[in-house]
Amino acid sequence: MNLLVTGGAGFIGSNFVHHVIEHTDHRVTVLDKLTYAGNRASLAGLPDARLTFVQGDICDAPLVDELVAAADAVVHYAAESHNDNSLDDPRPFVDTNIIGTFTLLEAVRRHGTRFHHISTDEVYGDLELDDPARFTESTPYNPSSPYSSTKAGSDLLVRAWVRSFGVAATISNCSNNYGPYQHVEKFIPRQITNVLRGERPKLYGSGENVRDWIHADDHSAAVLTILEKGRIGETYLIGADGEKSNKEVVELILTTLGQPADAYDHVTDRPGHDLRYAIDSSKLRTELGWAPRYSDFAAGLAATIDWYRDHDAWWAPQKDATEARYRAQGQ
Ligand code: NAD
Ligand code: DAU
Repeated sequence: MNLLVTGGAGFIGSNFVHHVIEHTDHRVTVLDKLTYAGNRASLAGLPDARLTFVQGDICDAPLVDELVAAADAVVHYAAESHNDNSLDDPRPFVDTNIIGTFTLLEAVRRHGTRFHHISTDEVYGDLELDDPARFTESTPYNPSSPYSSTKAGSDLLVRAWVRSFGVAATISNCSNNYGPYQHVEKFIPRQITNVLRGERPKLYGSGENVRDWIHADDHSAAVLTILEKGRIGETYLIGADGEKSNKEVVELILTTLGQPADAYDHVTDRPGHDLRYAIDSSKLRTELGWAPRYSDFAAGLAATIDWYRDHDAWWAPQKDATEARYRAQGQ
């Protein structure tokens, strides 16, 4: 197949491109705007015969139409992805996440192209810490932030294009990813690179908030499984039973790097901060036979720490500007 991967120079998109090149014979075209979050170096070393890179915007309808016409399937990762940025300036989130997804949907409608939409568990809102429930495919949408509300909006557009126009689409909603190539603005890379630089990790508020961690490579394998075997029109939740409080994660980063477990600071909390996410991925596991490979979070985190230690040149250019932005927000 010829796959068009939007956002393939970002964190999860680039992990997916590496996964596809390694595990399949598919050819990949990446369409990526190279915003502050995109990095061409995340695709370095992949063979030219299998990968074409196009710098461009998913809101550019003529460009999108031309690329979709040449593709057998589209896997749509491109998005503005950071909650904190969406609180500062929501506009790019509406443009890329809503208008960009609309532009792609119109192109796949014209060309009859298979479409897989990448989304997030944040569309379901949050859970109490002691709630025995986890999110399922039938949990009502209840997003909290400008980021998650634009992702929810894009999911609803996909559902409408399936029902109204017969577009051959699937949707996946995944929990928090960790692994290589993640921008240093995000929680785990920010804390790892802080410690590597001799600075203290920064916990928002009490640090009791819980995220359900999955390794990005497990997410990639799940998306490939849905692309190959998923039922058209269906939504699949992706998660690896990886619930951890932010405090637990910071303590693990510190001890893995040989520091005292309490060598972190509490900083100003994120407004509207979602308390807990938790995914029930039974549908994906039983219907399509997917299972995560990284079942040991501490081992996956240690490998991620090693990756950041070995790839200073990949993240260092973004670190100062990212920390300056956080400092200005008291975080
Ligand atoms: P990221 O911010 O690391 O990467 C986003 C990529 O999209 C970047 O390469 C950027 O240049 C590109 N992009 C942004 N606007 C664009 C535009 N208008 N046109 C073309 N390219 C554009 O994001 P990520 O963390 O890799 O997330 C990728 C997708 O996965 C998003 O849809 C996000 O909602 C979803 N998701 C992320 C997580 C997570 O834990 N990070 C979990 C579940 C779902
Ligand atoms: O659940 C999936 C979502 O996970 C994706 O849809 C988003 O694109 C992705 O960014 C992520 O959203 P979060 O807001 O959960 O991720 P973030 O890395 O920003 O923060 C994770 C948790 O850590 C959250 O509770 C906020 C907290 N945090 C974050 C930073 C950057 C801190 O305590 N300190 C920090 O410095």
